[in-house]
Amino acid sequence: MRSVEWDAQHNQLWLIDQRLLPAEFRRVALHTYEEVAEAIRTMVVRGAPAIGAAAAFGLALAAQQARGSRAAVLETLQQAARVLKAARPTAVNLAWAVDRVLSVAQATSGGADDLRAAVLAEAQRIADEDVATNRRMAEYGATLIADGDTIIHHCNTGALATVDWGTALGVIRMAHEQGKRIHVLVDETRPRLQGARLTAWELEQYGIPYDIITDNAAGFFLSRGEVQKVFVGADRVAANGDVANKIGTYMLALAAHDNGVPFYPVVPTSTFDLRIAHGRDIPIEERDPDEVLAIQLRGRPVAPAGASARNPAFDVTPHRLITAIVTDRGIIRPPFDVHIPRVLGTA
Ligand code: MRU
Repeated sequence: MRSVEWDAQHNQLWLIDQRLLPAEFRRVALHTYEEVAEAIRTMVVRGAPAIGAAAAFGLALAAQQARGSRAAVLETLQQAARVLKAARPTAVNLAWAVDRVLSVAQATSGGADDLRAAVLAEAQRIADEDVATNRRMAEYGATLIADGDTIIHHCNTGALATVDWGTALGVIRMAHEQGKRIHVLVDETRPRLQGARLTAWELEQYGIPYDIITDNAAGFFLSRGEVQKVFVGADRVAANGDVANKIGTYMLALAAHDNGVPFYPVVPTSTFDLRIAHGRDIPIEERDPDEVLAIQLRGRPVAPAGASARNPAFDVTPHRLITAIVTDRGIIRPPFDVHIPRVLGTA
C-alpha cells in the first residue's frame, strides 16, 4: 500500500495519518487542496518525497474544485500552488513537484477537462517515478552495506516518508532482502519521534532487527566501535553538497566523522536544489515550541509551566562530514561541487 494514493473511483486522495502510528493505522481521504496543505502542515503526511507527491495530487484536487473555463482552472491552480508551497519551507520536493505539475498545466492546450486530466496524469507520474527512483537508489546504496553491519538511521525515511519503499531506509531494506544480516540503531528523533514511532514500525513489518536509541546515545555507540555506517535522508541538498535534514543529523554526522564511520545521505534528484550554493542559505522550518514542551513523563509535563522552547525542525550537515551521497543516478563522492553538477547533468 502506498502512503500517498489517488483513488480514481472517488476522485480523492488517501493518506496514512502518520501522527497516529504506531498505536493506530488509519487512512484519511482528502477532497480539497486546502485539506492537503493542512495535512502537510500538521504532518499527517511527512517526509520530503511524500509531501511532494501529496502536493502534486493537491493540485489535481484544485483542478477538480475549479468551476468554469480553462482560465478559471489555471487561476485556481496558481492559488493552490501558492498555498501548498507555503505549507512547509525546507523540503524542496514540495516546490519541485508543484512547479512540475503547474508547468504541465500551462503547456496543455484544450479546455478545462483537458487541464484536469493533464494535472492528474502528471501527479500520478510523480508518484510512480518516486517508487522507481527509490528502488534504484536502494540498489546503489545496498552495495555500501556489508553482511553483519550495524547501521544508525535518523528520523523516518522509509515507505511512509515517500510514496513507497523509501530512501535511506529503502537502502537498508534492500540490503536485508539481499540476505545481508543487518542491525539498525534507530535514533528516536526528538521531538516528533519519527524514529521511535515510524521507523521502528516499518522495521517490524520488514523483519529487520533493531534497537531504538535516544538521539544522544548515538555518539556513545559510534565511539565504542559498534557502528559501521550511518544512513540518513535529506530535505534539500545545496550545490556544494551541504545537506539539510531532520534536526540532529548534524550532530550525528559530527560524531560519525570523529570516529571515522562513513556517513551517507540517500537523496533522489528531486531533493537537490542547485540554485542554492551553500547549505546556510537553505530555509529552515521552526515549528511550534509546543512540540518540545508538551512531552509528558508518567502523565506529567516534563517542562515547568510557562517554559519556553526553540524548535528548529531541520539542520544542515556541511559537505566535509559526508562520505558520499547515494542518488538515483549513482553514488556521488567528493569533491561534491564538481561531481554533483556532473551527475545531475548540469555541468
Ligand atoms: O519533519 P519530517 O518528518 O518531514 O522530516 C523528514 C526528514 O527529515 C527525512 O529525513 C527527509 O524528508 C527524507 S525522507 C525520505
